[in-house]
Amino acid sequence: MRLEGKVAIVTGAARGIGLAIAETYAREGASVLLADLDGDEAAKAAGRLAAAYPGSFAAAHTDVASKADCVAMFATAHEALGPVDILVCNAGIVRPAAAIEDISPETWDKVIGINLMGAIYPTQVFAPEAKERGTGRIIYMASVAGEVGGVSAEMTYSVTKAGVLCLTKATAKQLAPHGVTVNAIAPGTIQTAMTDILQYDASVLESIPLGRYGEVSDIAGAALYLVSDDAKYVTGTTLDVNGGLFMR
Ligand SMILES: NC(=O)c1ccc[n+]([C@@H]2O[C@H](COP(=O)([O-])OP(=O)(O)OC[C@H]3O[C@@H](n4cnc5c(N)ncnc54)[C@H](O)[C@@H]3O)[C@@H](O)[C@H]2O)c1
Repeated sequence: MRLEGKVAIVTGAARGIGLAIAETYAREGASVLLADLDGDEAAKAAGRLAAAYPGSFAAAHTDVASKADCVAMFATAHEALGPVDILVCNAGIVRPAAAIEDISPETWDKVIGINLMGAIYPTQVFAPEAKERGTGRIIYMASVAGEVGGVSAEMTYSVTKAGVLCLTKATAKQLAPHGVTVNAIAPGTIQTAMTDILQYDASVLESIPLGRYGEVSDIAGAALYLVSDDAKYVTGTTLDVNGGLFMR
């Protein structure tokens, strides 16, 4: 029970990696707000967690690309669960590869809105209260794509995830004097609904030294470490969880 008494918000928590993180935190004793564009699925997941774990659970219908929605998400968390200790900005979207000349301004706006502003807006709401309390943990979900210039998705994805990597360092520097740590996880290829749409060919699997795609539990374990006491001196870093697909 490493997170007993802690309150966490996880965005994009209706399924996939976000749901696995929410469940891992629940198993460790935390109370969790599951926020997602799919509010119905998030509410169902919160109900399942409430039946299985001792913490309190709530759901919010949230578009992370909307600052107003992010303000409302925190209000729901405060009302249902209390002051927030942990923010995991996990929601994200990907699109199949396309030539740069074929990517419309609307597409750029949409992917930047969700993958980058969707991490910035919740942080803007969280930062003042975390600074005042002198404590807090933030995790951003980056990607190996943001480190290597893309794996097989549209470049809107890798460009926004590279932005998330810099956001991690910039926010970590600002918030460190206030006792708040900020880190990123850069997953490799994890089997979820997201990767279903990318249709990897055999060469992607062959390029993973550990010889398998990742599972959501691989990322949830990293997300637990980064908010645990074991990581209290870790900030501004990116934890690669990619089976060796990319090594620094
Ligand atoms: N699966 C992978 O291989 C992989 C690799 C690297 C990084 N990631 C990152 O991990 C995160 C989770 O990915 P996943 O594989 O679980 O994806 P997923 O598509 O299975 O889940 C994403 C969740 O985010 C929600 N979402 C989408 N847009 C939203 C919005 N505007 N506001 C709120 N919620 C929204 C979706 O409804 C969904 O529940 C993403 O940021 C993704 O970029 C995934």
